Amino acid sequence: MCGIVAYLGHREACPIILKGLHRLEYRGYDSAGVALLNGELNVFKKKGKVSDLEAYLKDKNVHANVGMGHTRWATHGEPNDVNAHPHYSTSERIAIIHNGIIENYAALKKHLEHQGHVFHSDTDTEVFVNLIEEIQKQNSCSLEEAVRLALHEVIGAYAIVVLSKDAPNQLIAARKGSPMVIGIGEGEFFVASDATPIIEYTNEVVYVNDYEIAVIRDGKLDIRSKEDVVQTPYIQKLELELDSIEKGGYEHFMLKEIFEQPRSILDSMRGRLELEAGHLNMGGIRAYEQKFVNAQRIIIVACGTSWHAGLVAEYLIEDLARIPVEVEYASEFRYRNPVITERDIVIAISQSGETADTLAAIELAKSKGATIFGVCNVVGSSIARATDAGAYTHAGPEIGVASTKAFTAQVTVLTLLAMIMGQKRGTITDTKLRELMVELNNIPAKVEKALELDLEIQAIAEIFKDVPNFLYLGRGYNFPVALEGALKLKEISYIHAEGYPAAEMKHGPIALIDENMPVVVIATKDSSYEKVVSNIQEVKARKGRIIAVVTEGDTVIPAMAEFVVEVPPTSEVLVPLVSVIPLQLLSYHIAVLRGCNVDQPRNLAKSVTVE
Ligand code: F6R
Repeated sequence: MCGIVAYLGHREACPIILKGLHRLEYRGYDSAGVALLNGELNVFKKKGKVSDLEAYLKDKNVHANVGMGHTRWATHGEPNDVNAHPHYSTSERIAIIHNGIIENYAALKKHLEHQGHVFHSDTDTEVFVNLIEEIQKQNSCSLEEAVRLALHEVIGAYAIVVLSKDAPNQLIAARKGSPMVIGIGEGEFFVASDATPIIEYTNEVVYVNDYEIAVIRDGKLDIRSKEDVVQTPYIQKLELELDSIEKGGYEHFMLKEIFEQPRSILDSMRGRLELEAGHLNMGGIRAYEQKFVNAQRIIIVACGTSWHAGLVAEYLIEDLARIPVEVEYASEFRYRNPVITERDIVIAISQSGETADTLAAIELAKSKGATIFGVCNVVGSSIARATDAGAYTHAGPEIGVASTKAFTAQVTVLTLLAMIMGQKRGTITDTKLRELMVELNNIPAKVEKALELDLEIQAIAEIFKDVPNFLYLGRGYNFPVALEGALKLKEISYIHAEGYPAAEMKHGPIALIDENMPVVVIATKDSSYEKVVSNIQEVKARKGRIIAVVTEGDTVIPAMAEFVVEVPPTSEVLVPLVSVIPLQLLSYHIAVLRGCNVDQPRNLAKSVTVE
């Protein structure tokens, strides 16, 4: 949610910032802007994509070695030029970029207006920069001190960078609750929301912690706490490869990420599934093994696609490890009064590791004494750092806003976790465990095979691209897959879609079915197959247009469905990893055929850092 990037060094700042903003555009893309410090402090900003800002900058003097940029996902105020960041203070001597939300902005604004500050935008961010200016004036202090004091007054979340005309070779950054990483090069520094704008310049980074303020000045990085205590930065070496954040010949990141799944699934089990030796390992649970074995309950908290992975995990853990599982929307969990005890384990699932609702749910569960286990993709992310233990999904950077490879990597890691717990608790036989290990090991090849359906699915997408509604049905392990298929379609193609347990259809949604309603039924050969066949009959009797995802070799459903796509057979508990593939492809092709921006769908952002 909003991307920030800043540079101070010996190179031209503007091209570095713009390139960085393109990389961060997945975080928000309704407006963008830059501030450049070159004796003057100039702000340029535009509604629209980073490319619109680039076009606007064509005839401007953008020469500067210090600068910052922002790509916005609107919270306060509609997307327009004025609300775009950076924001000046009233005197236009200070400028700020901000990712987050200042909750007490209204009270601060009132106070600042009394002091003579003038506001042009509807944003909370403009309040922040004027607060800094006012504090500096009142206390006749340095910019750094003014920022520090301002942080004591704001309530909410922020990752900010501040530049001042009066401090020509200085950049101040601070964070609480929104991500921030600083890259350290040879006599140059980079600040960004994640490491993607930084990696081609340096692989040495410092992840800024909550309540820390970083001052970059005179070729040095100084990090202090909000109480002004000097902190020793922990410099990490990044392992991110540049290739992994580029499209690599694909038309969209989403398509690249869909096709990366055989590899990303393999990476998520690397070192964890050792077939030859017959071992399952997960370093992250080692210290908490007894807690897992004795857990009286597991609560899974997550949002969106990660929540769907959580639903798959509920089936897996109950099936294989016989521990009761509850799956909660993180946003709801937080705002009720859930019963949590010290014997509960909370599993938080998040691709970005920055989702504010999930973080808040973790904090609540922690305060009640539960053990928190994280399943995150982004290394060093806030959720990864807030949990007691965890396992990274190792899917590599996911840049398309619609989550695809992160989902299958999450399900893989959760499958391994359920298998390990089943083994430790003695709820799964050695034979069954061995069978599952062999089959899990085969999954990347089966996903590869499912990806061969691409052209077939494109043809189906042609036929259905203009319909207004879709229904997705599945049972058992395929129910979360139906939800995920529907979410993928609605978020990138703007077609209304609903996922339902197939049997639940007759309790309401069946009323929607007529000859215009496409119904995607995930009907692989598993324990509920016969029942799903009956559900298909019910749809057919009402003239619904059936698109069925079936197991290779099925002869029954092809005789009933209008369209059939065949996926390779696998064990019932692993089926989501394969059956979700055609649904990802279907939503992708429909969205492309409708002319939608699949990587940056309207109103969405990749990491949702507001509650
Ligand atoms: C859907 C999607 C979102 C995310 C959700 C949680 O394609 O991407 O629904 O799954 O915002 O995000 P993370 O997993 O980063 O916590």
